[in-house]
Amino acid sequence: MKIAIGSDHGGFELKECIKEFLQSEGIEYKDFGTHDTGSVDYPDFASKVASAVVSGECDRGILCCGTGIGISIAANKVPGIRAALCGDCYSAKMSRMHNDANILCMGGRVVGKGLGVEIVKVWLETEFEGGRHQRRLDKILDIERNHR
Ligand code: RB5
Repeated sequence: MKIAIGSDHGGFELKECIKEFLQSEGIEYKDFGTHDTGSVDYPDFASKVASAVVSGECDRGILCCGTGIGISIAANKVPGIRAALCGDCYSAKMSRMHNDANILCMGGRVVGKGLGVEIVKVWLETEFEGGRHQRRLDKILDIERNHR
């Protein structure tokens, strides 16, 4: 599995921590920036990571900003993206089982590094359940189609 990862300055430190974890697990990733703590605009990184996921260049994405809110709102504007803002392991697990989330978003100013890595672990290892949940995802696709 190849992960697209990105953040703004508010999520930079958490992103670096997650990269260390991915590296230690031998999970391939591509870092779309930002590359330091200088102030940048989160939509730029949401757009890059979301594009890598919908194009198939990467299988899933991880995005961090200060709260995780702005970067998740921006990522969800890209058709085909289901970005889930998670601050706990239960939500991360359910975002995969029920929502087939293809991008995980977290807030670097909200979630500590230890919890952040635990959230990533459970999110990466949990599979989509399908069944009745697929019907609901199809309805989300309908919303996208009806608002082009
Ligand atoms: C940047 O200061 C901050 O607004 C951003 O990281 C994020 O929290 C936005 O939702």
